[in-house]
Amino acid sequence: MIKGSIILKKNKEDFIKSFHSWIFSGAIEKIDSSEELKNGDIVRVYNYNKELLGYAFYEKPEQIVARIFYFGNKEIHNINQYFLNYFEQLFKRKSSLFFDSNAFRFIHSESDRIPGIICDIYNQCAIIQIDYLKSELLLNLLIKFLNTKNINYILLKTQKEIQWLTSNRLKEIEFKENHLNFLIHIDKFQKTGYFLDQKINRKKIIEYSKNKIVLDAFCYIGGFGIHALKGEAKKVVFVDSQNLETQIKNNIIINKFLESSFEIKNIDVFQFFNNMNPNIYDVMIIDPPAFVKTKAKINEGIKGYIKLNRLAIKNIKQEGHIFTFSCSQFIDKELFRKIIFIAAKEEKRNVYIKEYLTQAPDHTISVFHPEGEYLKGFILYVE
Ligand SMILES: C[S@@+](CC[C@H](N)C(=O)[O-])C[C@H]1O[C@@H](n2cnc3c(N)ncnc32)[C@H](O)[C@@H]1O
Repeated sequence: MIKGSIILKKNKEDFIKSFHSWIFSGAIEKIDSSEELKNGDIVRVYNYNKELLGYAFYEKPEQIVARIFYFGNKEIHNINQYFLNYFEQLFKRKSSLFFDSNAFRFIHSESDRIPGIICDIYNQCAIIQIDYLKSELLLNLLIKFLNTKNINYILLKTQKEIQWLTSNRLKEIEFKENHLNFLIHIDKFQKTGYFLDQKINRKKIIEYSKNKIVLDAFCYIGGFGIHALKGEAKKVVFVDSQNLETQIKNNIIINKFLESSFEIKNIDVFQFFNNMNPNIYDVMIIDPPAFVKTKAKINEGIKGYIKLNRLAIKNIKQEGHIFTFSCSQFIDKELFRKIIFIAAKEEKRNVYIKEYLTQAPDHTISVFHPEGEYLKGFILYVE
């Protein structure tokens, strides 16, 4: 089960003292293994003096060679039991975070010390996303564990495909968030089905919506806008470039808001803004996809965020509120604040930051893994 060991160079173990899990090729003195290591194999990690420092998943020979999932000098005698116990502990912690939702992120990859795996639970369905790790062992243990938790449907999403791992299948997944009901259609879904990271922020919109005209820009299946309807918004306009009209409508119907006033627009948000009359919306939600996917694209991304936030600030009514977000990992809170500063300055409007927003707590932010903190937002008050 343990396929080999990684021995670090002299004085190259400081990152382990800070519990950072990535082992870069430059830190490695030697890799010992009787067979060629494959992606997902488990290895022991030693310092130069052959003292045990932890256990890791081997990934690939270049750059990030392995990712540590356990730090410590105690031998793990039974890897299967180690993971099953760990899953139990994590599940208990995550499932008890929200009393009014039955959907939550069970595993948030490295931030939860399970590198390479994301697992979201929606009621009786689990959606597992694997980006780079190919550990059959870990996947099989996870399935075994989920079977003990009344999870009857398991869907696996990799970069190449989506496949059911259970004989039970669903066309639509139904779940509750903040006492509201939601449906996601398997053929239309993005990421792991729904953007659970915005759960707390969606709840916030309820208190800002009463008698307001609300724009839910980049709405996906309508999460924010439907929360605004719960908050008794006068009207909600949903905008997304993907055609999700049926999904949004179904979600409005199952929450019994069909009598409310709403419009669904299948259009590019920039185009929508360019053709809109100003001073209509009291509240805007601006939740775009990540504009910066790699560090090299950072300047282009910054320009995109400035343009978008300028349009929102320009067009919001006086004394309006903008919920604005960036989920780009390479844009930190300070940089996002500067982006808002530039947008407000260019539009010559007085803008206050009323509240700071972040990802829901099931999307663990580990102090040792800052890369896992990616979602940032502000509630802006525009005078
Ligand atoms: C981060 S998701 C939004 C999640 C959503 N706010 C929620 O709470 O579930 C981004 C959404 O923007 C949409 N999108 C991407 N580019 C767009 C564009 N230029 N104009 C309109 N929608 C766009 C995607 O289809 C996706 O649904």
